Amino acid sequence: MNADQVRAHIDPIRHEYAEARSLILPALKFAQTEKGHLTREDLEAVGEATGFSAAYVESVASFYDRLYLAPTGARVVSVCVTLSCMLRGADEVWDHLCEREGVSHHGGTSEDGRITIQEAQCLGYCDRAPCIQADAEETKGPFTPGSAAAFVDALRAAPDPHEFWR
Ligand code: FES
Repeated sequence: MNADQVRAHIDPIRHEYAEARSLILPALKFAQTEKGHLTREDLEAVGEATGFSAAYVESVASFYDRLYLAPTGARVVSVCVTLSCMLRGADEVWDHLCEREGVSHHGGTSEDGRITIQEAQCLGYCDRAPCIQADAEETKGPFTPGSAAAFVDALRAAPDPHEFWR
């Protein structure tokens, strides 16, 4: 994506943001719609369109679970690893899903490209710990390792959700 495309998206909404830097997030979300993740070119385009450096834009992008700086699988599974979920078995869920999907203990994308497993901080569902969020959209819980695997199987079989960003 180039800076002109990003400008065309954010110019009509500029007046809704008191500070220019607040436009970075909607610009990044828009830029991500093209490929499902953000490339160096996208970060530079967002920087040029918003008036910030690509490094600053990247620092913003790296903070958010829903913005991806590398290609992801068709479905993104975020496993909450914050305290409430940890106390109720998030470790076991995480380990089981990583092993099952054949990714490292740090997460990653399954060989078939269908599932990306990543850690997440508190998803606001502590009363349903341990919980999982699918595609940064749908959060469910509580899970056992077995029910989490069934949930991932259902996601794997579902249509591509990248529409969410479009
Ligand atoms: S700690 Fe997991 S949802 Fe809050």
